[in-house]
Amino acid sequence: MNFITGRHITFAITGGIAAYKIPYAIRDVIKMGGQTRALITPSAEKFVSPLVLETLTNDRCYKDMFFENGRTVHIDLARDTDIIIIAPATFNTIGKIASGIADNLLTAVVSSADVPVLFFPSMNVRMWLNAINQRNVKILKKNGYTVISPESGELACGEEGVGRLPETGVIVSEINNALCPKKDFKGKRVVITAGGTIEQLDDVRIITNLSSGRMAKEVAEVIKARGSEVTFIYGNISVPLPFGAKNVRVKTGEDMEKVLKKEIKSADILIMAAAVSDYVPEKVKGKIKRKDKKVLTFHPTKDILRELGKYKKGKIYVGFALEDKNLELEAVKKMRDKSLDIVVGNTISTLNSNTGTGIIITKDGEKHKFKHQKKDIIAWEIAESIIALHKSI
Ligand code: CTP
Repeated sequence: MNFITGRHITFAITGGIAAYKIPYAIRDVIKMGGQTRALITPSAEKFVSPLVLETLTNDRCYKDMFFENGRTVHIDLARDTDIIIIAPATFNTIGKIASGIADNLLTAVVSSADVPVLFFPSMNVRMWLNAINQRNVKILKKNGYTVISPESGELACGEEGVGRLPETGVIVSEINNALCPKKDFKGKRVVITAGGTIEQLDDVRIITNLSSGRMAKEVAEVIKARGSEVTFIYGNISVPLPFGAKNVRVKTGEDMEKVLKKEIKSADILIMAAAVSDYVPEKVKGKIKRKDKKVLTFHPTKDILRELGKYKKGKIYVGFALEDKNLELEAVKKMRDKSLDIVVGNTISTLNSNTGTGIIITKDGEKHKFKHQKKDIIAWEIAESIIALHKSI
């Protein structure tokens, strides 16, 4: 779900080599409808051109404290934004802000801002692990700033280790999450299953279904943005994985059940959106040869949701029901049969589509219908139903 549209996002760039990546993040934020502004430290100018930033943001690239007589530029800039992104955040700037030093425009803006500030540190691994830097990062976090840990990998200096600026997609997703207006899933652990399971007919062929995993991905992203930790267990999907979740790949329904039995123990909420195969074929060894007619034997699989019933105590279970007729009736039946708290009934047209038609039903009788609705909006409504139910139990 896009929380960036119409918001004012300030990119504060400090003098690290990863600064060259920030114009890409600015471009992506603009594509999502964000209004951007760039401000830089004097040494950042060596790594990224102010002209590039001015062209992208369609604004001045702010660097000097004193360019407008009689104007308190740092106060204006701090006031006129919804969020500040410090990326890359160098050892030096982290240290200055943690110590209360405001000796350039960027640090002065941050010191006078009362909006969320996200730090994306990026530096050599030994600088990152330096005890003074680690102490400074702790100070920033303790004072309400968000620090996104750098990633591990090859660094610009040729060394390997923690210190890399995350990819643009991760930066944009963290900005989006920070702008989410609700944080009511904070402290919750949510397990979400996605996509179709895969069963093997022989050593060459598989049987699966048309589920894309899109609904589950949207739910994962919305719930993550609202503050939850998310474990995303996925089979056969055709959408990108959600950012920021613990993603676990499985193949068969049996694999999914095994992983779920482990993950469910520490979870507060289960959202079972996967299209689990109802039948598993008797697998033929090797490759089935072409003949006039072939009869294959299928056995019914275990119902995973029912199997997970014994772990339910105190947890919220959300199931899905895909129906071609009597949608509401069949969905309510599944909610009762599988001891669910919420069921999301969908029509077949919802499968492998960007939009969905159906109904969200909670065990206390609340109903919310949706028709040709975008899946991120449905995901938001599912989150709303979970929170409403959570408050009532
Ligand atoms: N489900 C499950 N284990 C299975 C099959 C389904 O846990 N072996 C879960 C799905 O993830 C979904 C819910 O049960 O949350 C309903 O799935 P659905 O395919 O709509 O219905 P089924 O229970 O399989 O029944 P039917 O196919 O007869 O409609």
